[in-house]
Amino acid sequence: MLCNALVALLPLLLQPVSAVPLENLHTRQQSTFVDCLSKGDVPIVLASDTSFSQLSSPYNRRLKYTPLTITLPTTILHISTTVKCASQFKIRVNARGGGHSYSAQALGGEDGHVVVDMQNFHDVVYNQSTTYAEVGGGARLGNIAQKLYDQAKRAIPHGTCPAVGMGHPSLGGFGISSRNWGLMVDSIAKVEVITADGRLRLAKPTYNGDLLWALRGAGPSFGIITKFYFNTVPATESIVNYSYSFSGLSASNAAAAFITIQKFALTAPKELGLGVSLWGSGTNFEMSGAYYGKTMDDFTSLFQPLLSQLPQPSSSTVNMKGWIDTLIRFAGASTLSVPETGYNEHTAFFAKSLVTPQGSPLTLEQMTSFFNYAATKGPEASNQGLPWFVIINLYGGGNSAITNTALLEQTSYGHRDTLWNFQLYATINNLSPASNASSITFVDGFDRSVRRSGDGAYVNYADPTLSPDESHTLYYGEQYAKLSQLKKKWDKNQVFWYPQGIYPAP
Ligand SMILES: Cc1cc2nc3c(=O)[nH]c(=O)nc-3n(C[C@H](O)[C@H](O)[C@H](O)COP(=O)(O)OP(=O)(O)OC[C@H]3O[C@@H](n4cnc5c(N)ncnc54)[C@H](O)[C@@H]3O)c2cc1C
Ligand SMILES: *[C@@H]1O[C@H](CO)[C@@H](O)[C@H](O)[C@H]1NC(C)=O
Ligand SMILES: *[C@@H]1O[C@H](CO)[C@@H](O)[C@H](O)[C@H]1NC(C)=O
Ligand SMILES: *[C@@H]1O[C@H](CO)[C@@H](O)[C@H](O)[C@H]1NC(C)=O
Repeated sequence: MLCNALVALLPLLLQPVSAVPLENLHTRQQSTFVDCLSKGDVPIVLASDTSFSQLSSPYNRRLKYTPLTITLPTTILHISTTVKCASQFKIRVNARGGGHSYSAQALGGEDGHVVVDMQNFHDVVYNQSTTYAEVGGGARLGNIAQKLYDQAKRAIPHGTCPAVGMGHPSLGGFGISSRNWGLMVDSIAKVEVITADGRLRLAKPTYNGDLLWALRGAGPSFGIITKFYFNTVPATESIVNYSYSFSGLSASNAAAAFITIQKFALTAPKELGLGVSLWGSGTNFEMSGAYYGKTMDDFTSLFQPLLSQLPQPSSSTVNMKGWIDTLIRFAGASTLSVPETGYNEHTAFFAKSLVTPQGSPLTLEQMTSFFNYAATKGPEASNQGLPWFVIINLYGGGNSAITNTALLEQTSYGHRDTLWNFQLYATINNLSPASNASSITFVDGFDRSVRRSGDGAYVNYADPTLSPDESHTLYYGEQYAKLSQLKKKWDKNQVFWYPQGIYPAP
């Protein structure tokens, strides 16, 4: 595919600049820029190319931006050349990893960027002597998990969806094992990155440590990470996989049940992953998760006291699983493997997130308001072709590995005091201006039904309806000021830009 794209482009690459009609400045600029790329033999795809439409489609079709050019580097030098040319011609650059950003931010959030599609950088190699997983900047989570397991029965904590790419660890990265082992960003030991000047740099705690800090939480604003070195742990094989469903509860009884779960969660051991999910009909909800490195007896003694205070579940499943089977169960898939190149799946949706601090647990009133919204507006949205879900993941409580304020010094990720992270998500069945607008109204209302003034939002569930300022506060809180200083140091001309990215301090 690469070679074909290049052959098709050759006549264009060789065209002298003077052949471009002078009245068309846009084309003229592009062809000058293309000249620059062609000197470095960078594989490029232009709007006139047949593969352009697929390569410029985000996972979330709700948002559409048209890049000026897409590059498909196969070498570090191709990436470096792209960044240097873009910088010279004042064209903004974004890396594209798995393409799963909620706000299509790998396309830059506006037309006319150069998108560096990292799909050819998908190697996953476990290094026995360092115990690092060496992972390319265009790999996807499912392939990483499966390959590390196959190579050495090792693991990294990360999210559930196999096709999600390396934006995930650049911005956070929560999975059901994260209370035990941390966010995926916490597993980054060091990286190789192309910075705004086009240079390949190593960033590790003892060398370019400030850059590493920024990349661990705000990666897309500071460079294109070509290779991640992740710390790994032995894959846990003894995992209790559990799920309890509750149905037919009134909004206030559902809220009371949630408050009971919250009380339990505040002291739950870190080996427990827990989420509360609801969808479709309203107040029915499921409490599910995994208990890592534990036996069925451990699980029973932890959960019996909780279950005895909750309404009778309408159904439940509890079983023992290995590492890979547990990942498959949470992915809702039959395999973790996804295509390394040529991935082409899309959907349309709008989502928001709500991050609640550990110091202010949710109250019965707040959760009653939330479940009332679910009960009244939820069925309406489903009937209007907006099937929705909410997943309320437990981040904090007990000795959770995520909520450790000392980590603020090691990563720029904004929230180290989170109790819950709510993801409020509506799929748009038939994308139209009307359904697009209703999805936002519905999800906004859900968020408002429970949000308090001190609550935040999760940068990996990017909400493009937030202004840059709002997003910085909600995503990064107090970390933003330092990020902004470092942006001034590493990329003051904003070669890497998208609307909610980091802006340089004045
Ligand atoms: C179906 C689905 C399931 C999800 N599940 C979870 C989950 O369980 N837990 C969770 O925490 N999140 C989850 N997410 C959110 C996900 O973590 C983010 O959307 C993530 O940023 C996507 O990364 P990507 O590489 O696929 O996307 P992209 O859109 O390609 O990239 C996202 C951002 O990262 C940048 N980027 C990508 N690669 C690089 C690189 N190599 N160097 C520098 N910058 C880079 C891009 O420029 C862009 O700004 C899910 C998303 C979806 C769509
Ligand atoms: C959906 O609405 C957003 C504004 O919220 C707009 O930017 C986007 O283009 C719309 N999508 C479609 C497919 O109309
Ligand atoms: C593993 O890491 C060591 C130390 O960095 C390095 O010398 C070695 O080449 C690596 N092995 C492989 C197979 O990449
Ligand atoms: C784990 O349990 C859930 C219900 O809790 C069930 O749906 C799933 O099939 C189980 N996982 C596997 C891999 O069997």
